[in-house]
Formats: sequence, structure tokens, C-alpha cells
Amino acid sequence: MSQQLIDQSVNGIRMRVCVAGEGPPVLLVHGFPLSHRMWQAQIDHLQQQYTVIAPDLRGFGGSGVTVGTVSMEQHARDLSELLDQLEIKEPVILGGLSMGGYIAWEFWKHFPEKLKTLILCDTRADADSEEGVNNRLKMVDLVLRHGPQAVASAMIPNLLSVTSREQSPEIGQNLIADIESTEAEGIAASQRGMAERSDFSGMLERIEVPALLVVGSEDILTPPAVMQAVSAQMPQASCFEVSQVGHMAPLEAPEQVNQEIEKFLASC
Ligand code: MLT
Repeated sequence: MSQQLIDQSVNGIRMRVCVAGEGPPVLLVHGFPLSHRMWQAQIDHLQQQYTVIAPDLRGFGGSGVTVGTVSMEQHARDLSELLDQLEIKEPVILGGLSMGGYIAWEFWKHFPEKLKTLILCDTRADADSEEGVNNRLKMVDLVLRHGPQAVASAMIPNLLSVTSREQSPEIGQNLIADIESTEAEGIAASQRGMAERSDFSGMLERIEVPALLVVGSEDILTPPAVMQAVSAQMPQASCFEVSQVGHMAPLEAPEQVNQEIEKFLASC
């Protein structure tokens, strides 16, 4: 089955997008500071039944970079414009991991008519604490001074479980390569955008689309209790916990996650 990498001009930047398969549209939104490549196992699997659209967000992968701050709303607007350009007319199944989840909340807020269901992996609905914001701004400074190499390796323990790091070291190596090939300004811009993001925790009960939440049992950044609390507040959500994996559940346990996604989509 064919997968194409295409470049679209979206809201003033070049957006690199992987498009695969045929059928109802699935839009996959990667986490920070990664690219569409984190979804490869889901693209391979879902393309058998769906049109999978997996972009590199503004500032990441092969997409153009904006200097300054890129808000989560801007990312959502880029996704909406991308769907228009690809002539996707029906509402999408939107999958987002972590930062991809923050963007999914904005997409729901601004483009509800374009959203059919949500698959939210290892993410949260609340905004940052003051300490969280300060840590982000420190990272911005570090990346702009010393480049992505200064943060890439240090991020891995937060992204992957001990089991994944020990049993599949290539996952961490691939993530490091992805982060190191990202432009510092792109990382800085979305990090600033995340620091300013809105708090959606008071809006969860209004998000009425069916939603599957997926979380790694050893996710340090968005632990299962956080995802379960989000799920409990959404009218049509359920939460699936994947054992022995960390913050990158779809990458660390692709078969289990694909199976759960398939089950969820069949039930919608
Ligand atoms: C991500 O994986 O996208 C990040 O952990 C998001 C964040 O820094 O809050």
C-alpha cells in the first residue's frame, strides 16, 4: 500500500505530510519535539482501512519553521487548513499524542464540525503551573544557545519506560535522531506556545465526541491518574492503560495500541 510524503503550502509555511491509504480520514498529530514518524506503526496499520494524514507540525520534521511563539491554536488552524487543501470533506478521527492532544483540544474548540472522534494518547487537559512554565522557558534558552543536541538524550528517560529503554534501545535512538534533526527555533516556538496554552479541564464535559484515551502505565509526564481523570469528565470517553510503557505508548507498544484503536473505531 502506498504512502506518500507531500509538501503543502499551509498558512504561509511548507507543511510536510505523510498521506496513506483510503477510507474515512484519520489525522495523526505528533508530540513534542518529534515528527509524523512517531506514528509509523499506526500509519502502516490504519492505512488498510482509512485515509491516514500525518503531518509534521510547523517547526518540526520537514515542515517550515516560524520564529517566536507558535500557539496550540495556530497548530490547530494549520491542521484545519491542511484538511481543506487535501479536500477532506468529512469529519476526522483525530489522534494526538501529548502536545498533539493539546492541539486536539483547540481543534475541538475552533473546528467542531470537522471532528468525529478523538484518540488522545499520553496527554493532559490542564495548563502549566508557574514552575512548569519556567522549566519550559529554561529549555527554550538551552536549545537556542546549544541546539537540540543539548536536550535530546536527556529527554529519553521522560519519554520511554525502563522496559522500552532496555529491551528496544533503537526506539530511543530514533527519537534522539528525530529531535536532533529539528531546528532549534522550531522547538523554541512550540515550547513557548505550550507554556501559554489554555486550560481545557473545565471544558471536558462539553466534549461530546466518542474518545479513546491511551496512557502508558509508566508515563511520568502524564501519569495514568491524570488521563483517567480526564476520561471520567468526558461524556463518551474510555481510558486504556498499556503496561510497561511510558509517555510514547503508540511507539512503545504499537500492536496493543493499534488493536485498541481498531476496537474503538469499530464501536463508534
Ligand atoms: C510531548 O510529548 O508532546 C510533551 O511531553 C508535551 C509537553 O511538553 O507538555
